[in-house]
Amino acid sequence: MIRPVIETEHSLSPTALAGPGGGAAPDDAPFAAVASALDRAHALARDYLTGLARRPVSHRAGPTAMAAALDEALPETGSDPAEAVAEWFIRAEPGIVASGGPRFFGFVNGGATPAALAGDWLASAIDQNAGMWLSSPAAAQTELTVLRWLKELFGLPPNWSGALTSGATMANLVGLAAARQWTAARLGFDAAADGLGGRPPIAVVSSTEIHASARKALATLGFGRDAVRTVPAPGGAIDPAALAAALADVTDPAIVVANAGEVNTGAFDDLTAVADACAAHPPGAWLHVDGAFGLFAAASPALAHLAKGVERADSVAADGHKWLNVPYDSGFAFVRDTDALRGAFATGSAAAYLAAGSDAGWDPHTHVPEMSRRFRGLAAWCALKAYGRDGYRALVERCVGNASSFARWVESAPGLELMAPAPLIVVCFRFAPDGLGPAETDAFNREAVARLQADGRVFVTGTVWNGRACVRAAFDNWATGPGDVETLQAAVADIGRTMPPPSSC
Ligand SMILES: Cc1ncc(COP(=O)(O)O)c(C=O)c1O
Repeated sequence: MIRPVIETEHSLSPTALAGPGGGAAPDDAPFAAVASALDRAHALARDYLTGLARRPVSHRAGPTAMAAALDEALPETGSDPAEAVAEWFIRAEPGIVASGGPRFFGFVNGGATPAALAGDWLASAIDQNAGMWLSSPAAAQTELTVLRWLKELFGLPPNWSGALTSGATMANLVGLAAARQWTAARLGFDAAADGLGGRPPIAVVSSTEIHASARKALATLGFGRDAVRTVPAPGGAIDPAALAAALADVTDPAIVVANAGEVNTGAFDDLTAVADACAAHPPGAWLHVDGAFGLFAAASPALAHLAKGVERADSVAADGHKWLNVPYDSGFAFVRDTDALRGAFATGSAAAYLAAGSDAGWDPHTHVPEMSRRFRGLAAWCALKAYGRDGYRALVERCVGNASSFARWVESAPGLELMAPAPLIVVCFRFAPDGLGPAETDAFNREAVARLQADGRVFVTGTVWNGRACVRAAFDNWATGPGDVETLQAAVADIGRTMPPPSSC
């Protein structure tokens, strides 16, 4: 039983608070309104969540309807906080997508487990600034513990540094910023302090399937979004021989970006072969792995072979709001070289007011672009504590089981085609009606995605794979069960059976 300490040890008596000089007595009144506002938010959330499994997952309101519901001038006078919360919910409700529910298979979204959601709520209530030890020792240590637990879950070396981020895009940025710092140091300059201007370009090599978020990170870091040298990735996984050949053309230290879980198919680069190619590059190569969802394969002994070699990377990015099933926004970056990481995000001497000194000798904000930051570690701590290694192994294997059973169904269903093997949680497939040419088949698939989304039973998204319009379904929600997979199959089968050919679409 955990002892409540708030009243006993953390309250100052009115006399102590006033002090010998006679300051003011405490005033609890400003916080009294919190209870009614939170009660209202809780009631709305409880009703929403208990109905989530039955809620349609279609878009019920477009931009015009949402603007009509919410766009208005700044209120001149205020209103009751509880009423304001309820009013937003009622007005915005048609635009809420049930993406945390078990029949949302779009993008790679995940959901929020009970422990994670409760932790996230508490994080908002106690509102810690997780940027510094001084601003919250609790948040700083929680983040360190979460990173330690995640390294243990994924089999990453315990001495790596890291940071919690807002998602995998920012985790890619953190890893690639450390990579930039490391390569620049080898070339004799400090990238964070001096910038890249006037320096020869640093080579970044990846496959054609590098995720758009890594390109975004490269753009932000001054490498240039389109400056990546890409090599072929047959079936979604990088060709290691082509990578070695591309590196052989580079005379300086380089950065290599590999995928652990390509977003369209879930394909994995052979990370051992990629690490070998990096190790064989005489000037040195920093290996960054984008494992936004694929890193979770390492949490299951049955699937860990897919991510084998990730422990040889220099930095790894992954998402919490995908397969860890914690609420948005949550991601994590792991970095082997702490000096490179801190060099990338040091504030230098420019922030005297922050240099208050911490017993730890460093602050979390020196690992990330932000200074003040949300206490996102609490949601992850609660989830990892509540479900443990076993719980996550089971979650990962259940999701992969759902994806495999859907992929097997696609393979056996008339008029459907599996576009790529589905080793993990993404199934890429398409409708292939008899008698249609390639362009008509593409049009059919695009229309099928729109109709599936409008149908409301399930939500899937479209993509282009190998030049063909396809459908993607991702299975990374903790609450998705076999019945939901059956519903997906039924919805797909109904569209295939009832949708007219493209000329009349
Ligand atoms: C492989 C990969 N990398 C990065 C990202 C970006 O993640 P986020 O949207 O959390 O920033 C995604 C998102 O789907 C992804 O699949």
